[in-house]
Amino acid sequence: MQDFNYRNPTQIIFGRGKSAETGEAVSKLGKSALLVYGKESIKRTGLHGRIQESLASAGVRTVDHGGVKPNPVISHVREGIAKVRAEKLEVVLAVGGGSAMDEAKAIAAGAAVDHDSWLFFTGEKRPGGALPVVTVPTLAATGSEMNGNFVIADSESGLKLGTFSPHCYPAVSILDPELTLTVPLEQTVNGVVDTFSHIMEPYFGGRETDAPVQDRLAEGLMLALFETANRLVPNPQDYRGRADMFWASTVALCGIVQAGRGMAGWENHMLAHSIGALTDAAHGACLAVVMPGWMSYAALMKPEKFDQFAQRVMGVTGAQNGIAQLKLFFSRMGAPVTLGQLGLKEKDIPRIADNVLRSVPGGGSLGRDGMVSVLKLCL
Ligand code: NZQ
Ligand code: ZN
Repeated sequence: MQDFNYRNPTQIIFGRGKSAETGEAVSKLGKSALLVYGKESIKRTGLHGRIQESLASAGVRTVDHGGVKPNPVISHVREGIAKVRAEKLEVVLAVGGGSAMDEAKAIAAGAAVDHDSWLFFTGEKRPGGALPVVTVPTLAATGSEMNGNFVIADSESGLKLGTFSPHCYPAVSILDPELTLTVPLEQTVNGVVDTFSHIMEPYFGGRETDAPVQDRLAEGLMLALFETANRLVPNPQDYRGRADMFWASTVALCGIVQAGRGMAGWENHMLAHSIGALTDAAHGACLAVVMPGWMSYAALMKPEKFDQFAQRVMGVTGAQNGIAQLKLFFSRMGAPVTLGQLGLKEKDIPRIADNVLRSVPGGGSLGRDGMVSVLKLCL
């Protein structure tokens, strides 16, 4: 176990109907808020009206900032920052999936500085502060509700880049599992895959291999996630399944699983972000395609850990059998497992790898050749 310093300042309010407490939670942080949300789901489900009522009855003035895209873009972040400034807003409230939450964090940090907010993502600037962020997630997947990460794309350059700031942890996140009952099956499955990836990347990729508590924590969480998915995917209206899924996805990327592992390479996310930026495919779908390929490649270098995963998590013997079982689990849920299912062919592989090189110097631990080898295993 490596030394680590863990602090997570996000207050979690979890439970059925808890989104009615949004106004009260926001009003403790300010009397005006930018309401950040996606394209149409919160209006279709009536949540937009209920949130506005809750805010109004708590005396919070709001300005709408809807239209956040899956794979949110920096031009829309800039528009949000302009609204915050023009209306002198005090809080940024996200109601939606990871895209709305990430965009809210980018707006909150961008509103606190004079320079263009894209510089946070290129690494030229670090956020020095941020407006308080409150989130009401409507989709269990990214864990953005309890971490300081945010990922934004630039449609002009085709780059999708992530950053982290301790200033961007939400002050409060309200997890109301009922809000996720309307998530379509495809997005539900993407959430399972993304959650798995957040546990798996540090489990295999963290520099520290001798961390038995972290191993058991990750393995237990993976098993609980599979059980939850087996319950939820055939019955998406199951409240218990939705509640378990919500907490699994939040815990998976709140930092507890990653602590003591040292830096992981996050190779699957690196490749998935490149594919997402080039194709606009959903983050979870890109990961479902990349992970079995990367695991087969990485198992050649760290066979013991992949044997352990096969035995303890997938209940089979042998690294490659474990990976095959995982791929089967993804495809049985309806996730894509080949690049072809995302509309990509072998000739697209160099483009995906080169796009990574534009944001990750040298292509991280894989390098360009390694990326090409992994992607070939994903065909
Ligand atoms: O846009 P609307 O109309 O709201 O519809 C959304 C969108 O089409 C829909 N949706 C969300 N909640 C719903 C719902 N539909 C019906 N009922 C509901 N309750 O779902 C679609 C996808 O939403 P999105 O927010 O894009 O999905 P997700 O939560 O998977 O977020 C993906 C983004 O998060 C980033 C990804 O790269 C991607 O840009 N990530 C953020 C991370 C973080 N901050 O820690 C880590 C992740 O690894 C990831 O990179
Ligand atoms: Zn992810």
